[in-house]
Amino acid sequence: MTANNWAAIENILLKQLEALFDEDAQRVDGMTISQSGLRFDFSKTHLDAGLIAAFSELAATMDLDGARDRLFSGAVVNLTEGRAATHIAERGSGSVDDVAQAKALQNRMRGLIDVIEAGAFGEIKHILHIGIGGSALGPKLLIDALGRDGLRFDTKVVSNVDATALAEAVKDMDPKATLVAVASKTFTTTETLMNAESALEWLRDGGVEDPYGQVIALTAAPDKAMEWGVDQSRILPFAESVGGRYSLWCSIGFPVAAALGWSAFEELLEGAAEMDRHFRTATLAQNAPILAAFADLFYAQVRKCQTRAVFAYDERLRLLPDYLQQLEMESNGKSVTADGQPLGRESAPVTWGGVGTDAQHAVFQLLHQGTHTIPVEFIASKTPGHDFDPAHHETLLINCFAQGAALMRGRDSADKARSYVGNRPSTTILMDDVTPSTVGALIAFYEHRTFANAVLLGINPFDQFGVELGKEIARGISENGPAGFDPSTSALIAAAGL
Ligand code: F6P
Repeated sequence: MTANNWAAIENILLKQLEALFDEDAQRVDGMTISQSGLRFDFSKTHLDAGLIAAFSELAATMDLDGARDRLFSGAVVNLTEGRAATHIAERGSGSVDDVAQAKALQNRMRGLIDVIEAGAFGEIKHILHIGIGGSALGPKLLIDALGRDGLRFDTKVVSNVDATALAEAVKDMDPKATLVAVASKTFTTTETLMNAESALEWLRDGGVEDPYGQVIALTAAPDKAMEWGVDQSRILPFAESVGGRYSLWCSIGFPVAAALGWSAFEELLEGAAEMDRHFRTATLAQNAPILAAFADLFYAQVRKCQTRAVFAYDERLRLLPDYLQQLEMESNGKSVTADGQPLGRESAPVTWGGVGTDAQHAVFQLLHQGTHTIPVEFIASKTPGHDFDPAHHETLLINCFAQGAALMRGRDSADKARSYVGNRPSTTILMDDVTPSTVGALIAFYEHRTFANAVLLGINPFDQFGVELGKEIARGISENGPAGFDPSTSALIAAAGL
């Protein structure tokens, strides 16, 4: 059945993007969705009524409606690990029980923040958040995006096991005034535990008599955190069913809630909840995450584009591509379907990107004239993040829109070196402003788009077994040294003197 769906999609003739506008004078309106302070413009993609209808057939075959209902009802959607995916419950969108549990744990987080603010940990000025992957990327993005007008606590996020990052983060911190938040869903991650040990040492060296007293744990494995030495009263647990890369909404978001304030955290959750409602209720053709997934699949599966690029035309969102890399690639970079069969199609493309306008002067040459077609996503805000001359922001937006127009239009020239093939797709997301609420909605949009992509391909987006083998081999090297590996690896281990 899916083979027929894909054949129907593949048989639709590729049109010139500009011709799509000629065919339909209402195209901009028809292909633009405004939701939660975000304007999604899909009109410069190749999606048209024919493609949307064909993808809607695929959605029916793959039971996207049913999958979405199962997600929101708290059913087991992560089949390989036998659990639900309850990140949506964190923003009040899941089953009654899941929402109640999430709320109770969020209230516990709020309580701890109140206690910190009341001085129970002494005078805390800094938060050192230690985590990696999903336990770091969300907080890092949000603090960077939303904390520019000031933070209640000077907050740094450290992830890399290369302690250069830790050294840099603590450089200007006063150990006696620092709260260390160790964030790890499993509380077993080597990098995080090693950084946490070194942070304890730094506290001790800085004259803190009871370093564990200044440490809190954000985890779905409270027992492990206790074993490691954190007192139960300072552990902020979250549900096992919240996936690591979907966890910024629960206690992993502690530094966000503490540094930006509880009301900002609530606005973030509410922005995401609005996007949840949109994803659940809007028709396919008016559903931003679903249309985005249709476009993603069209380019990855039919046009065989191996990458997609995301450019934030706003300095505040410069970490968005990093965040999306984990969300999209760890979720959908799989070779088998949810029931273990070979996928038989392309998995998720490589997500990459950068910041506009910087990227224009570095990588856009290839986007315009390289031989690869790379679907591009532009994210911009109508409102600037600064008080300098408004000309800065106008120039930023003008450049953003000009790039999308140029990619689509192309240019014929007798001098082939100056020709642009054009017909290159882009999506533009124009935000009213970069606020907790719009950023919450934006991230939820990406989560649902990733989910829709997975459902339409038959992938389980909630596991990540592909990260295990490397970890296992690293353990083997630490335990056994160079013996027992392939000659190249053994030689490298020996050459480094490990
Ligand atoms: O190795 C990948 C991964 O498991 C991610 O999925 C996760 O976000 C990250 O490591 C950190 O895991 P934890 O939160 O358990 O430390």
